This record gives sequence, structure tokens and C-alpha cells, in this order.
Amino acid sequence: MSMFRKKELTAVSSEPSAMKKDLKTMDLIMLGIGAIVGTGIFVVTGVAAEQYAGPALSLSFLVAAGAIVLAGLCYAEFASRIPAIGGPYAYMYVVFGELVAWMTGWLVICEFFLAVSSVASGWSGYVHGFLNSFGVDLPKALSGAYNPANGTYVDLIAMLVLLAVTFWVSLEAKTALRLNNMMVFVKFGIIALFLLVGIFYVKPDNWQPFMPFGFSGVVSGAAVVFFAFLGFDAVSMTAEEVKNPQKDIPKGIIGSIIIATVLYVIVTLVLTGIVPFDALGVKDPVAFAMRFVQRDGVAGVISVGAILTLLTVTISMMYSLARIIYAISKDGLLPKFMSKIDEKNRTPKNATYVAGICTMIFAGLVPMELLAELTNIVTLMYLIVMAIGIIRLRKVAGDPKPGEFKIPFVPFVPILLVIVSIALMLQLQAATWKAFVIALVLGFAIYFGYGYKHSNEGKVKN
Ligand code: ALA
Repeated sequence: MSMFRKKELTAVSSEPSAMKKDLKTMDLIMLGIGAIVGTGIFVVTGVAAEQYAGPALSLSFLVAAGAIVLAGLCYAEFASRIPAIGGPYAYMYVVFGELVAWMTGWLVICEFFLAVSSVASGWSGYVHGFLNSFGVDLPKALSGAYNPANGTYVDLIAMLVLLAVTFWVSLEAKTALRLNNMMVFVKFGIIALFLLVGIFYVKPDNWQPFMPFGFSGVVSGAAVVFFAFLGFDAVSMTAEEVKNPQKDIPKGIIGSIIIATVLYVIVTLVLTGIVPFDALGVKDPVAFAMRFVQRDGVAGVISVGAILTLLTVTISMMYSLARIIYAISKDGLLPKFMSKIDEKNRTPKNATYVAGICTMIFAGLVPMELLAELTNIVTLMYLIVMAIGIIRLRKVAGDPKPGEFKIPFVPFVPILLVIVSIALMLQLQAATWKAFVIALVLGFAIYFGYGYKHSNEGKVKN
């Protein structure tokens, strides 16, 4: 059946590209860290420690990291064997054919655009707090997501920041990522500052009881802090702009996951060592911990740093979102204007604008909590598809060749990823599941209403 039409492995890797190829491993690790370390550690940790895991939140991070490492291995093998732009979408086109590829691509689009929207909305919360401290107040109607009962209609600051980010990302890739790289250093800087100061205030008594909500609390916490690792997949979307994608992309993905995991575990241990977990339910836990021990100056530096660095998450993820929209449109599954490359900067400008407009609408109107849980569920779903994809790839194309990345213990590793992902999905709320079903239905509707008829593969073969 033609909705299962596939691309050939060799055809995909040799598709011509109009984009500039000058990114290397280090750029990719910076892009990865830029996309990964953000709201998850600076915002979500507080509530996750208070409500779900207590001091054992560091274990929740390890559980979530376990799932992400398994996913990273799948990514690394796919990226080294099928080095095409579009990440999981491109991989699934080769192993399962068009319909599965589109739905996977659709879930990745949802992941990135929901993540960008929720981070922008969280960012706006910080900026409001910052402005308030100078006595500046925006009109209430413009200060939050659509909720007439509460008097808020649109989150203007979240929309404005995305307008700026969209413009920035439409510039040349190197320029767009340069700002990102600088901010990543700011991010490392404030985390290092927190650890260096915070370590002296750790009271081991605060780690008792270590697991106040039992192991099930640790797993529920993992489903929530899973968000903190999202963005690791941003790296695979850059294939057309990387010098040596077969080697650099696996290194970029695995490298950024390892760095993020180490940072998260240490930060949460110090955080819960400074503040009793039941007092951590605030929206700026890292700065709060410093205020808690009367280090207000350090807290101020951390807050400003967090405001700056949350921007890197939106820049990196918007960058990747534009590239996946571009890749899918290039294949005819989304309208063609989205794959136009800007002559001057050689970037997918129209795809960037589409990404910008959609994220602005969602960040302006939908509350952050809903956006964040939805981001997790769509990601876990496509990781399941990827894991099954690895098993299938080994069946149809055999083991990786020398020089390509090889996952050990297949099919054990992919099966474990499926089990862990399902376990985490089951922790999420019913409202999230409902929105997830709507997203799936919408995905199928776009494919059968548009993609199926306009696909390039269909034109070649019919
Ligand atoms: N991992 C990203 C963050 O925590 C989405 O902000």
C-alpha cells in the first residue's frame, strides 16, 4: 500500500542539500546542552521534589536519564547509519515507510513546538517577577494564558520573546548558534556558582527521609523531570549542516546527555541538602535555595542567569523545529513553501517563520503546565516507535558497518526503552492523555488530507 512507501537507505544519505555544512562535534554538544538544560532544572525541580520524590529526586533524574540514554543509543545508531536531516522522521521513512514516518515527524514537531512554547511561558513568569521587583506591572489581561475567569487573555511577554527568537534563528546557522554557545557558558557559570556556594550549606539531615513518597514517588517524579532532558534530540536535526554527521551526531547526542545527567544529579542533591524538600514548591528553586540561606546576592545572579539561559532552550529547539518542518516539507508531506531556503543565509526561513507563529500562538494562549506534560507524552510515544525501528532496521539492513555506531544487546536495549517509556507515560494525567489523542487524530488528518496526495515518493512511484 502506498502509505507505507519507503525511502532507500542509500538514497536518503546522498540527497543533495543547499545548506551550509560547517558544524562540528563541539557545536553539537553546545546545541544539545543549550536545548537540554533549562526549565527542567531551574523551574520543575522544586515542585517535583516537594510533590513527588523528595530528596530522592536525584534518583528520579537517574531513572529519566536511563530512558534518555537508551533513546540516545537508538538515535546514535540511526544518525550514523541514516545521516539525513529530519531525525526520527527520516529514519522511520527508511524502516517503516511514509505513514509511520509522518506520524513520528508529527510527534517530534509537537514535542519541539510544545517545549518551545512552555519554556517561553515559564520564561515570561520569571520576567514578570523581575519587572515586578522594579515596580513595573503589565496590564493583567496581557500577563497570562487565556483564562477569562482570571482576567488574563494573552501572555504578551512569552509572545514577544518568541518573536525575537524567531528572527534570530532565521539568521545564518553559525550566527544563530554563536549566541547560544555564549549563553551555554553563562548556564554552566550559574550552576557552578550554585554548587560552589551551596555545598557549604548542605545539611545531610535534610536528606532524611530520602524517599518520603516511596519508590513509586521516584517513578512519578521521573515522568515529570523527563522534560529536563528533552532537547537531546535537537542535535539529530542538524545533519545537513554538519561536517561529518556519521561521527559528530552520535558524539553530540551522547556527550550532551552525559553532561546534563551529571549536572542534574549533583544539583538536585545539593538543592535538597540545603532546603527541606517540603519547602521547595516554588517556581525558582535554585535561586530560592540561595535566599533560604541568606545569600541574596548569589540568588539575584542566579535569577538573572536563569532568565538569560532559558533563552538558549528556545533558540536551540526553535532551530531544530524549523529544520524538521523543512525536511518534511521537502518531501511534500507539508506545503512546499516551507522548504524554501533563504538565498542569503542559506537557512529554511519560511519553516522558521511557521515555527515562530505556531509557538507564539500556543505560548500566548495555553498554560505552561499543560504544555509541559503534553511535551513528555508525545516524546515518549515517538521514542517507542524509534526503539521498534532499531529492531526493524537490524532485520532489513543487517548490523552496522565498521565505523558506524552500534547499539549493544539488540533487541534487549530497544525493548527496555519501550517498557520504560510506557511506564513513564502511564504516570501522566488523564487530561494529558486526552490532548495526546487529539494530537494523534490531527496528525492522521493532516496526512490523509494533504501529505498522502502531495508526497514526492508517491509522485516518483505512481
Ligand atoms: N529540557 C528543556 C528544559 O528543561 C526542555 O527546559
